[in-house]
Amino acid sequence: MRNKYEEIMEEIQSRIDDGRLQPGDKLPSVRNFAKELNYSINTILKAYNELEKAHRIYSVPKSGYFLVGSDQLSSKTPPTTIDFSSAGPDKSKMPYRDYQHCMNQAIEIYREEMFQYSEPLGLPSLRHQLSKQLQDLQVFAPPERICVVSGSQQALDLLVSLPFPNRKEEICLEQPTHFSFIDSITSRGLNAIGIEMTQNGIDLDYLEKIFKERSIKFFYTVSRFQNPTGYSYSNYEKKRMVELAQKYDVYIIEDDYMGDLDTNKKADPMFANDPSGRVIYTKSFSKVLLPGLRLGMAVLPEALLKDFMKAKFAADVHTPVLTQGALEIYLNSGMYKAHIQKLRRQYKKKGTILKNAFLEYLPAEASFTGGNSGFYSTIELPKRMKATQLVNHLKKKNVLVQDATNMYLPVYRKENRIRLSVSQVEDWKIPIGVKKIGEGIQKLINTYY
Ligand SMILES: Cc1ncc(COP(=O)(O)O)c(C=O)c1O
Repeated sequence: MRNKYEEIMEEIQSRIDDGRLQPGDKLPSVRNFAKELNYSINTILKAYNELEKAHRIYSVPKSGYFLVGSDQLSSKTPPTTIDFSSAGPDKSKMPYRDYQHCMNQAIEIYREEMFQYSEPLGLPSLRHQLSKQLQDLQVFAPPERICVVSGSQQALDLLVSLPFPNRKEEICLEQPTHFSFIDSITSRGLNAIGIEMTQNGIDLDYLEKIFKERSIKFFYTVSRFQNPTGYSYSNYEKKRMVELAQKYDVYIIEDDYMGDLDTNKKADPMFANDPSGRVIYTKSFSKVLLPGLRLGMAVLPEALLKDFMKAKFAADVHTPVLTQGALEIYLNSGMYKAHIQKLRRQYKKKGTILKNAFLEYLPAEASFTGGNSGFYSTIELPKRMKATQLVNHLKKKNVLVQDATNMYLPVYRKENRIRLSVSQVEDWKIPIGVKKIGEGIQKLINTYY
């Protein structure tokens, strides 16, 4: 794990690499830098001392710290590829070693359980722990209603085909949305009704019309940091959607896959407006821990528990005991809380850098969504421009972005949207990459439109 002062050193290096700090420049004062980056003065001093020891900066009494005047300070070679297409978490920020310790402990503690099949809904001790941990997100649910799943995608996939107590058939979902959920629907040939997601969210009157006129079994919504738009609903919007669901006997699947990253302490999940069972709450550990663990959870209404348990048993009997046990130890030790607090700060910063870069570098013909925190955001290109054109153009410039076309159901498909994920892009590379995207869009406009 990196020390905090090393993060500061990295920040300074990034400013050198992108030209914000030139040889001979004065570094920010210790006090100002501490304020700007939200670190303690001691941490900044430690970083400056280390850099001074390495002869990379020097101090002038009563004047401050200065960058040594040598070109060799730009130790990093210019970036080769800027990858906005990877959806996985930033490897350098993931607690791999900590989790390894938890796995080692779990293999001892859960030795007996591993010689037999375990409970389909998850280890009772983990469900108990999750019930406590969810309270930080304003989700108050007893362990009996919590199911541990092999990635939250498994819960979504099972719910798509389960009969619901309202005996309705159709599914309503935001457009665009998380593409694996679309796969769950299309692979079963099911009916689904889309509602457009813009930078202002969805049209709630239209949602009411859908709930009223169609036979909606559930509405699938990603309530915070939506994938791919990055949109987070306001408390008012969430409350209104729950009211509509109650009025028209529709269930809601609230996919809160990245709720942990929310810095807005006043933001409540939809679940908080209807803990009795109308809202099914799902959560993933892939974006904040390790996606390869395949760990997620769902809070289900009592009326669905039995059927869900049968479906989970049929799918994979239960989620592996070892990873469940390690998660329990990780949560119980307080490591999770500490890790999340750090991540939240880092993603908030990334979001701010991204938004500023969008405002600075995107041409007026393009619009964007998201960019406050979380991973994802989208850019809507001029109407006739195809996302594939831009993706290919940018690939040649060593910038990777994702074509968002497959994040729509075929009937609602838009081909002029790209998705950006900032999770694997270092902070200092974000403006460089967005600048190239802006230039790419402009170039295509000038050439073809
Ligand atoms: C919105 C959304 N929900 C759910 C998931 C699935 O997460 P998991 O890895 O827990 O199955 C993802 C993964 O990217 C996602 O973007």
